[in-house]
Amino acid sequence: MTDSLSVWHTEHVSFSRLLDLLEEQLAVLRRGESPNYGLMNDILYYMRNFSDRIHHPREDVAYARLAKHDPGIQVVVNRVLQEHRVVSAAGDELLNRINEAAGDVIISRTALEAATATYLVYQRHHISTEERDLMPRAAQVLTEQDWAAVDAVVSASPDPRFGEKVLERLEALRKQIAVDARMQYT
Ligand SMILES: [Fe+2]
Ligand SMILES: [Fe+2]
Repeated sequence: MTDSLSVWHTEHVSFSRLLDLLEEQLAVLRRGESPNYGLMNDILYYMRNFSDRIHHPREDVAYARLAKHDPGIQVVVNRVLQEHRVVSAAGDELLNRINEAAGDVIISRTALEAATATYLVYQRHHISTEERDLMPRAAQVLTEQDWAAVDAVVSASPDPRFGEKVLERLEALRKQIAVDARMQYT
């Protein structure tokens, strides 16, 4: 149980780091420069494949069980489950805007900026609600059987370092981009 929660928390830390990288690209966009669309695309690819397909489905099961143990938390659970759908839709929207911009389709910078900022706000708000309101309670009330049910519905990533490896890859890409940018001006 403790393991599942610590994996859960580690995933939030990884997601937050990716959101920081995305925020850096938003700052580039706001300065009127060209963001790195490849990096933005990679971040969204990871978030959609890992967060939307593994992390959130596992949480859905855990939260449903949490609300059964503690009906008083049902309202928060309902809101957070709804956020899983909203975050996923905001990710789809952002990916479309990134692909359009990268493919030289004329879209307004404002549209890409708004989609990026919206995605960041939704994700960050969502993760902080879970860390603050749901995970401490889950640690108290979920049983071994509950965690077994979570594993039975959606197994965790087969590679526990999957998230870390993706982060390392994206960090390396970001550093390379910074080096390339410096070389262009020297
Ligand atoms: Fe979630
Ligand atoms: Fe989460």
